[in-house]
Amino acid sequence: MKKQLAVFASGTGTNFDAIARACAEGVLDAEVAVMVCDKPGAAVIGKAERYGVDTFVFSPKSYACKADYEAEIVKVLDAKKIDLVCLAGYMRIVGETLLGAYEGRIINIHPSLLPSFKGAHAVEDAVAYGVKVYGITIHWVNADLDGGKIIAQRAFPYEGSDPAEVHRLGQPIEHELYVETIKKLIQK
Ligand code: GRF
Repeated sequence: MKKQLAVFASGTGTNFDAIARACAEGVLDAEVAVMVCDKPGAAVIGKAERYGVDTFVFSPKSYACKADYEAEIVKVLDAKKIDLVCLAGYMRIVGETLLGAYEGRIINIHPSLLPSFKGAHAVEDAVAYGVKVYGITIHWVNADLDGGKIIAQRAFPYEGSDPAEVHRLGQPIEHELYVETIKKLIQK
């Protein structure tokens, strides 16, 4: 039985695309069983449809609180018998409802060499700091934002001051590292 993945994303979904392609091409012995998105209209939704991946798209505003929409997400993950949740540009803090059910099975990709530059503006903050070696981190998700144990990291040099260029350089590294890391985790 192939491992069942859930990918969570809020935006463009290039990491979703890399993971879904790796599954489709057999690079990963896994299937993206669901793509969870908190932004109706996000580009990642069209990508999921093109891969024939089921989606759970929700608007946080239509729920009274985080616990309510996370309870819905947990139902979806349970129904799909998800082995591993991969956050890929999911711009929400994971709360105690989702952690309570899936902690230890949730990973995230972050565009800095953690523990440096946590948070939503990691690349911009690193550029402002004058960083010369950038990087990508994949880590376990716990209640400490971007603070869970590190699983994998990859660094790359950049001496300029353009955050967009850092993102451009980092993207292919993200895609490769995410697929490699998922592969190792699901083989265990
Ligand atoms: C990536 O830079 C990732 O590190 C961060 O969010 C971004 C998602 O990009 N967590 P994409 O939507 O996968 O293209």
